[in-house]
Amino acid sequence: MSLAPQSALLEARELTRVFGQGSQAVRAVDRVSFTVQPGEIVSIVGESGSGKSTLARLLLRLLEPTSGQIFLDGQDITKLRGARALRPYWRRVQGVFQDPFAAFNQFYSVGRVLMKTLDLLDGAKLSREERQDRMETVLRNVGLDPVDVLPKWPHQLSGGQLQRVMIARALMVEPAILIADEATSMLDASLRVTILNLLRDLRDRYRMSILFITHDIGQAYYVSDRILVMYRGELVEQGPVETVLGAPQHPYTRQLMADVPRLHGWGAVSMAEPAGAAIGTGSVVAAPSQGAGHAGLA
Ligand SMILES: Nc1ncnc2c1ncn2[C@@H]1O[C@H](COP(=O)(O)OP(=O)(O)O)[C@@H](O)[C@H]1O
Ligand SMILES: [Mg+2]
Repeated sequence: MSLAPQSALLEARELTRVFGQGSQAVRAVDRVSFTVQPGEIVSIVGESGSGKSTLARLLLRLLEPTSGQIFLDGQDITKLRGARALRPYWRRVQGVFQDPFAAFNQFYSVGRVLMKTLDLLDGAKLSREERQDRMETVLRNVGLDPVDVLPKWPHQLSGGQLQRVMIARALMVEPAILIADEATSMLDASLRVTILNLLRDLRDRYRMSILFITHDIGQAYYVSDRILVMYRGELVEQGPVETVLGAPQHPYTRQLMADVPRLHGWGAVSMAEPAGAAIGTGSVVAAPSQGAGHAGLA
């Protein structure tokens, strides 16, 4: 007999979410199936309203699926309910969303937000010094100065800084996979490139997987190994970046590509050159201090 196949890190199987009933029903996510392997960056591309955020919330178990299943390391986690049961899952699967202002408690300083994340997850096992060390490391990893931002309140930070704090928060627990839903949409072009390079660096260094959700096929091209194209709740096309964008099969994919030069100057540049060449390959990630690396938990 053959060996059991190596299970994917994350798998969605026929995942479906319907909002409303009867003639009002919207199939926001419709029988979506795909896998993410360890160390892989997979993009989900689709226009506004195609179901991307609903899919992200389903995968993060923030929203109940109507039907279908989610597997982590081959284990069906679809039946897990409640924060207590889901905590081990969230230790491995973290999300970053588009609007950092909405995600950030206005009354908590950056330091408190990061500290609370450790409390919620595995912080109890860490000493005070280890917690402090990990906070400083993740902030430096996203290009922020810990001394500067730790005492600050959300309103004292720019949207770009706040988004980086949100990414740092997700990295605090050293997840196996990061689900980034339009996480770079609010950033200006140069900061966006910095964050995209950061994501690739995290993958290279720690084999962290990333599900990168965007409406912007240029960013998807730049950052990912594989692209899934979502249209009206369904995955209409998927495959390696070169295959999908080099020879798009679905009319919707062709339409998305046609929009690129009009949407983003640098998106058009990155479409024309191999990933990495357009922007330069300088590392933006500082080396993690001992004891705070991702390898330990991932
Ligand atoms: N909580 C909700 N209640 C009802 N409809 C929703 C809800 N969330 C999303 N939808 C609908 O599901 C569809 C997909 O939305 P969304 O997942 O936000 O798409 P995207 O992130 O790709 O813009 C849209 O038609 C949207 O109106
Ligand atoms: Mg969305």
